[in-house]
Amino acid sequence: MKIFLDTADIEEIRTAARWGVLDGVTTNPTLYAKVGGSYDEILQQVCKITPGPVSAECVSDDVDGMLDEGRHYAKLAPNIVVKVAMSENGLEAISRFADEGIKTNCTLIFTANQGLLAAKAGASLISPFVGRLDDINQDGMDVIRDLVEILTIHEMDAEVIAASIRNPLHMTQAALAGSHIATVPFKVLQQMVHHPLTDKGIVQFKADWQKAHQAAAAKA
Ligand code: G3P
Repeated sequence: MKIFLDTADIEEIRTAARWGVLDGVTTNPTLYAKVGGSYDEILQQVCKITPGPVSAECVSDDVDGMLDEGRHYAKLAPNIVVKVAMSENGLEAISRFADEGIKTNCTLIFTANQGLLAAKAGASLISPFVGRLDDINQDGMDVIRDLVEILTIHEMDAEVIAASIRNPLHMTQAALAGSHIATVPFKVLQQMVHHPLTDKGIVQFKADWQKAHQAAAAKA
């Protein structure tokens, strides 16, 4: 499963890239609002650091507005993917982008049917929001599982991104559900690294190493 970082924070992206675990980045207006500045400049920086796709989100409601925004973002870097929210106009824009060779990530997906339509329209990435479904007492991972199966049965090329990931368990579940990608907040990535027994073990090994060296030095 590929791991994308769900952030517009350059330092977080640099860190994940240094760890060697970064396959892509997703941004959205909410994440951009947290860092501020010029969205174009942030995207260009992120695209340089990131080995894979970087999603830039359109906010227009009408097809022409989405096309203008998306074409603009697509010119910023070769690895930009234009993020379009699921809607009737969104599907039309995705289809037009596909004709123009511009890759899209269809976002705000909450059912397998919405995902199927996005794939039919030509989206390369499809983002069901797992955490927001869990919030309303529906199992978000069911949508990931169903959509992955539908795309596999019908040999469709789109990839599923498990989005709105809130905790490390979501990551394990997304991987087991066959999600092609999961996009994760940096905090959750850090939580995946750590385990109390790992951290305790590192401290213990270091202490024992020092003790052994002190004992050896005392004998010499
Ligand atoms: O990738 C989508 C994500 O940014 C939304 O997350 O936690 O606001 O539902 P959340």
